[in-house]
Amino acid sequence: MTSLAQKLTELVGAAFEAQGLPAELGVVRVSDRPDLCQFQCNGAMAAAKVAKKRPREVAQGVADYLETEYAQATERTSPSQKAGSHGSSHFFKIEIAGPGFINLDVSDDTIAAHLTETASDERRGVAETGNQDQTIILDYGGMNVAKAMHVGHLRPSVIGDCLKNIMSFAGYNALGDIHMGDWGLQMGQIISAFELSHPEWAYFGDGPYPDAPLFNYAELEEIYPQASAACKDDPDRLELARAATKALQEGKPGYKALWQHFMDLSIADIKDNLAPLGIEFDIWKGEADVDQFIPEIAEDLKSRGIAEDSEGAVVVNVEREDDNKDMPPLMFFKSDGAVTYGTTDVATIYDRVKLYDNLLKIIYVVDKRQSLHFEQVFRSAQRAGYVDGIELKHIGNGTVNGDDGKPFKTREGKAMTFRGMVGAAIDKATTRLDEAELAQDMSDEERAEVARKIAVAALKYTELSNQAHVDYIFDLDRMITFEGKTGPYLLYQAVRIQSLLKKAEVQGIGFAEDEFVLQEGDRSLVLLLAELPDHFDMALKNYTPHVLCEYAYRLAQEFSSFYGNCHILSEEDEAVRASRLALCLLTYRQLKLVLGVLGIEIPERM
Ligand code: ARG
Repeated sequence: MTSLAQKLTELVGAAFEAQGLPAELGVVRVSDRPDLCQFQCNGAMAAAKVAKKRPREVAQGVADYLETEYAQATERTSPSQKAGSHGSSHFFKIEIAGPGFINLDVSDDTIAAHLTETASDERRGVAETGNQDQTIILDYGGMNVAKAMHVGHLRPSVIGDCLKNIMSFAGYNALGDIHMGDWGLQMGQIISAFELSHPEWAYFGDGPYPDAPLFNYAELEEIYPQASAACKDDPDRLELARAATKALQEGKPGYKALWQHFMDLSIADIKDNLAPLGIEFDIWKGEADVDQFIPEIAEDLKSRGIAEDSEGAVVVNVEREDDNKDMPPLMFFKSDGAVTYGTTDVATIYDRVKLYDNLLKIIYVVDKRQSLHFEQVFRSAQRAGYVDGIELKHIGNGTVNGDDGKPFKTREGKAMTFRGMVGAAIDKATTRLDEAELAQDMSDEERAEVARKIAVAALKYTELSNQAHVDYIFDLDRMITFEGKTGPYLLYQAVRIQSLLKKAEVQGIGFAEDEFVLQEGDRSLVLLLAELPDHFDMALKNYTPHVLCEYAYRLAQEFSSFYGNCHILSEEDEAVRASRLALCLLTYRQLKLVLGVLGIEIPERM
């Protein structure tokens, strides 16, 4: 099944076809003037050119057809068959406006029938466009070994994870790959620093090598900035780091054992940082995993003339004739033979393409400042012929800034750690619960869990409702409040629906989940419910979670007015009361579906 607008598109498309016009012109959209009509079709303007008629004439033909085939209902709420018609009464109003807009209102019976279908469909009408044989890799996070996670990791992690959910829900085999920064000079810097400070460690002898790390994550995280600063100031230290990197890459066993411990500790720390947010990866590979392919790729590219020698280095030229900006070549081997960030990314594509039979896309959610890098990598892979039929896309994310417009820092002026940021959000959520006198009757444990969900909803909603490329200002006061366009507001509304449904249960008021008797006051909520598939499809097609954020917000708001304006439990007409309860349940389920895709969990109560 589909959205109501998509269903109407079929009817109106048939009407265009009956006039000898392309059915595709019959696209029906939710009206942007709900005061005038519920739906609109603007295809008559384009059709007029094809048909060499006036647009209004085309529109009239379509309207007449619709009227005969899907007779106009005489009353909005109880449509009756129009005499002489043979179709069902889908439309209440068919009007031509302006130059040839076709304005449509649908009969309540048609809306109710659509809702009944939606209520019985677990996907709420969202089409399954993909299947499990079609793989999409999402590359996001990109954390570096031994480097504390910081606020900059929030955007790619949250956006990447949400895009993965969207694609999984659409049916694809969507896989999140963290693509760790775990190779290169940083590794040698840390190894050589440890070797200087702890020459006695077994890693630096002839083996056997320790099974468990001889240091903890805090020490690892501390040594990295020291080691990297030392290498900047002291050419001898840099030389040591280079040599250690080379030895590691050539497989020196003690260094490999040490490096494995960097990995183990770093991965544990990343998992621990992300756990409160419920973000997980399917693939824990990194730069190191593809090092093995570099010689064969180099061989392949050189033999086909794609990689060329250039002043001692090996490069892949990626300029194109129609380039209007500078496009430097991708550096495959530097003149000292070292590989670059670009080399590893090409090798990673090579690996992924080999591993997954039916790979449709690789989507990178990475800082927008890396856009040139990805352009070079994508062009190289394309020139090499590694990605025929595979879409490569870089979604460049902006930064999370402080009031000063610079990347967010702590009050002490230090770069904010990821853990610190999540902790501050949870603290703020706890304060807000107290201020609003919510969750007061709960155990400490339950309240802490509610506070975590509120904090996560706030962070993720802010993150996702801002388009990926924008830089936004991190403001906990604004994002953690139960009013306005925020995650906590959505949770509050969702919890409100749940408690209403619980109340009905306690009062012994039963209702059929899929029977609807629509009243005037229900209509705008109902029409909005019927839009879900449109918004989902848009978010999927354009990689835009913010479309779903906006929809969730409108749904919550619409529910709130419905709740304020309509009798629900106090409604005296039993059929209407049951229908309204079914509407509440459906609203809750749709909100839960959308929030679920956004990675936001709803508490049971507050
Ligand atoms: N580790 C990299 C960084 O810190 C990000 C990796 C992004 N992914 C990729 N395939 N290049 O900048």
